[in-house]
Amino acid sequence: VYCMLLIYLQQVLFCFSLLISTEEYDLEITNNGPITTGAQATVHATLRIKNNSLASNLYHFNWIYAPLILIEKSERQLNSMINVTGEFPGTFPVSVWVTHRNCWLCRPVARNVTVLQITEFITGNLTIAQIEDSRFIRHGSSSSTGAVTRISFCLHDPSDYFKSARFVYNWDFGDGVYQITKEPFVYCNYSTMGNRTVHLKVIAEWEQIGSIIHEKETMQKTGDFTTSLELLDAVKGINVVGSRETHVMENLSLSLHINGTPPLSLCWLIKSECIPLEGEKCHLVVINGSCYNLSHTFSDAGQYCLSVRVENGVTMLQTYHEIKVWPTGLQPAFFVLLCVALVSVMVGLVLYTTFRSNTQQKDLVEVADFDFSPLSDKNLSSHSEPGCCQICCRSCFLQSPQETARESHELLLSFYKPVKMYTV
Ligand SMILES: *[C@@H]1O[C@H](CO)[C@@H](O)[C@H](O)[C@H]1NC(C)=O
Ligand SMILES: *[C@@H]1O[C@H](CO)[C@@H](O)[C@H](O)[C@H]1NC(C)=O
Ligand SMILES: *[C@@H]1O[C@H](CO)[C@@H](O)[C@H](O)[C@H]1NC(C)=O
Ligand SMILES: *[C@@H]1O[C@H](CO)[C@@H](O)[C@H](O)[C@H]1NC(C)=O
Ligand SMILES: *[C@@H]1O[C@H](CO)[C@@H](O)[C@H](O)[C@H]1NC(C)=O
Ligand SMILES: *[C@@H]1O[C@H](CO)[C@@H](O)[C@H](O)[C@H]1NC(C)=O
Ligand SMILES: *[C@@H]1O[C@H](CO)[C@@H](O)[C@H](O)[C@H]1NC(C)=O
Ligand SMILES: *[C@@H]1O[C@H](CO)[C@@H](O)[C@H](O)[C@H]1NC(C)=O
Ligand SMILES: *[C@@H]1O[C@H](CO)[C@@H](O)[C@H](O)[C@H]1NC(C)=O
Repeated sequence: VYCMLLIYLQQVLFCFSLLISTEEYDLEITNNGPITTGAQATVHATLRIKNNSLASNLYHFNWIYAPLILIEKSERQLNSMINVTGEFPGTFPVSVWVTHRNCWLCRPVARNVTVLQITEFITGNLTIAQIEDSRFIRHGSSSSTGAVTRISFCLHDPSDYFKSARFVYNWDFGDGVYQITKEPFVYCNYSTMGNRTVHLKVIAEWEQIGSIIHEKETMQKTGDFTTSLELLDAVKGINVVGSRETHVMENLSLSLHINGTPPLSLCWLIKSECIPLEGEKCHLVVINGSCYNLSHTFSDAGQYCLSVRVENGVTMLQTYHEIKVWPTGLQPAFFVLLCVALVSVMVGLVLYTTFRSNTQQKDLVEVADFDFSPLSDKNLSSHSEPGCCQICCRSCFLQSPQETARESHELLLSFYKPVKMYTV
């Protein structure tokens, strides 16, 4: 007896030591409900230990699930799982607490509770997706008109309770259109905007052996689902009205006309190049109508680009508008005039110089006749075929260094020859 008492005392002491470290544990509990009556739900519990030195201990999971019916229970070190079923609808708390395996009388190290929902109806939900460029895009409850919207029912049946059931879906699209399908989804194409409410009644039927009179009986369960759909017009176009040209320090006004349902969030930016707008690096305005006026004054001349992005919850559109900014007071026409004047002056200059050089050359030749200048020498003119201009051009454009050397040599010779002749 003493021995027994001693052991008991030891256990109590051990447990008191454990009491202090209650904060060292986390007990997570989850269930995969809601379920329909007769189906099974799984409840998972996981013990998390914050202090690694306690991980080597052994633990025991204690469950309370009444009035639910236990189907299966499993336990592995720090995890435990139960499968339960219920005959009646309602919300049922399932609780679990964890004790040390060798200390049944001790206070639990951790406890937690979860609430399982059981309904007599089919469980699931409705999702809305829109097809854009043959991809499905989920927009929450917003959709754009003129595009195909897919509304689909997703059955929640974790224990495969409805595996042998036949389903019939009754759709009410809220605009006087009804549809009955065997597939859990429908495609619809709304052409007018506004808010819609879509109702779906799901009917599941299957046969099973009755529990009282062992005969085949037809089982039926139903479910009602509702989703609301906010139909918006897609942003179909942005039209920038205004000049593409302006001057430095001039007030340029532009009007943006947007084809789409307000409210629209509009973001604009003027930069030297067109850029796709992302984030908040642009001037963001929320507009209530379909028109927005903006004015901008440029401080430097050059090429600019107005980038505009418009969004309305379902669609996004971007556009660009190029703007040429001229220096102050300089009209394009003035530039044309200036160019014409410049060109005519140039032409005049060229004509003048050509005329001048012609007369000058003539003078030079005449003088050379008297001067015995090398240029006037007959020998030279016959010997050196390339004229002055030709030499210049050749040496400028196409001559290899060798050729240039030879030519200059030739030139030198031709210069020397007459000199020699006259000295003799
Ligand atoms: C109980 O379980 C929930 C769900 O896993 C978890 O978020 C919560 O922290 C747990 N509570 C305690 C005291 O461990
Ligand atoms: C972990 O537990 C051991 C034994 O209970 C204790 O000595 C230690 O201080 C604890 N560590 C932390 C970080 O709490
Ligand atoms: C218990 O539930 C799990 C997961 O939900 C499942 O894999 C398992 O087969 C179920 N056990 C029984 C006996 O139905
Ligand atoms: C709808 O059901 C799916 C699958 O069961 C789930 O992932 C999703 O979170 C549910 N959505 C809502 C809004 O309940
Ligand atoms: C949807 O309806 C609009 C107008 O009612 C039509 O222009 C469009 O082509 C339709 N889309 C499809 C995929 O049927
Ligand atoms: C449609 O519903 C949304 C909220 O879901 C609301 O903000 C909006 O004003 C409604 N539009 C109309 C036309 O009723
Ligand atoms: C530019 O003109 C608009 C009206 O056309 C005016 O509202 C705005 O204040 C002007 N901006 C400047 C800087 O003068
Ligand atoms: C948008 O316009 C409507 C009517 O034209 C008005 O009732 C509403 O207050 C406006 N909203 C904003 C944010 O200006
Ligand atoms: C934008 O400017 C035009 C004239 O330039 C004017 O008719 C219109 O009312 C303005 N819109 C807004 C929203 O200020």
